[in-house]
Amino acid sequence: MLDRIEEIRTEAAGAIETAPDTAELEELRVHYLGRKAELTTILRGIAGLPAEERGQVGAGANKARQELESLLEERAGALDASELESRLATDRIDVTLPGAPARPVGHTHLITRTTRLIEDTMVGLGYRVMEGPEVEHDYYNFTALNHPPGHPARMLQDTFYMQSDPEVLLRTHTSPVQVRSMEAQPPPIFMIAPGKVYRRDSDATHSPMFHQVEGLAIGEGITLADLQGTLDELLRAIFGGNREARMRPHFFPFTEPSVEFDVSCFQCEGTGELPGGERCNLCKGIGWIEVGGAGMVDPNVLGFVEAGGYDSERVQGFAFGMGVERIAMLRHGVPDLRRFFDNDVRILEQFS
Ligand code: DAH
Repeated sequence: MLDRIEEIRTEAAGAIETAPDTAELEELRVHYLGRKAELTTILRGIAGLPAEERGQVGAGANKARQELESLLEERAGALDASELESRLATDRIDVTLPGAPARPVGHTHLITRTTRLIEDTMVGLGYRVMEGPEVEHDYYNFTALNHPPGHPARMLQDTFYMQSDPEVLLRTHTSPVQVRSMEAQPPPIFMIAPGKVYRRDSDATHSPMFHQVEGLAIGEGITLADLQGTLDELLRAIFGGNREARMRPHFFPFTEPSVEFDVSCFQCEGTGELPGGERCNLCKGIGWIEVGGAGMVDPNVLGFVEAGGYDSERVQGFAFGMGVERIAMLRHGVPDLRRFFDNDVRILEQFS
């Protein structure tokens, strides 16, 4: 029995010494010292041995067990250290490497790009880009634009009012920047005002927040013909070389006369028909697509800034306004305006 114990001890000690990693070492521990190990069985059976053998076998087996336990501990320590070292060596981070994968560079939103296209074109015609507040006073949004208090046109726009002050609202259009700009400088003035506007409205072609660009030209001798030429130029820059603007009579409180303006359809070249003979789906066979509102600035509006040099007997001019989302949708065939604001990169990244 003692010989067998010595055999186990030698064999186990050799295996422990050469165990290649902690996982195998754990297997050796179970094999030689676990509940079903031979040495454990011997220790458990000591009570059943003849009395003269008990002392020697017990002492030998216990000694072997203790020796193997300390060998295991020693080897585990050594393996732990070397495994940590090799992990540190392979996990080393080179902080000087570029990030992988390199982050793709983003691009501007389609609404921003469309706004900038309009800005660039108008700046090329000598206009300045101005800004006004999105939280606006009733005076600028309505009153000074010739919507007297109680005027029914105020109800045409579903306005968000401040609960704390019904005189303060989210501007429903960029037109209030007309008056603010005229307050800031004497005529002549040639300015555009891009920005966000707000209305209680939400469907595939309306969002409670959207963008407009306003235009204003006031000086001596400015006529409706100048408006026509300016719109022709702008619509060509937006929709391509052969486009034309068309004005239709309309009503806005702050212009007289007022018009809505259309662009000749860029899909059917204004014919209303596609090459195959079918009706053009973009302009619905009309040949023209509505783009915005415009007109000659009403003398009543100039009356609000008369002190700043806007004498309606001496200067006059035109104004126009249009929706940026609508232009972007037309140019890029986007069917639902709300997609611009879902911020789904898979959709937005198509317009780079
Ligand atoms: N402010 C108008 C709107 O939001 C658009 C507009 C019409 C602007 C005529 C103008 C204009 O400057 O002259 O519906």
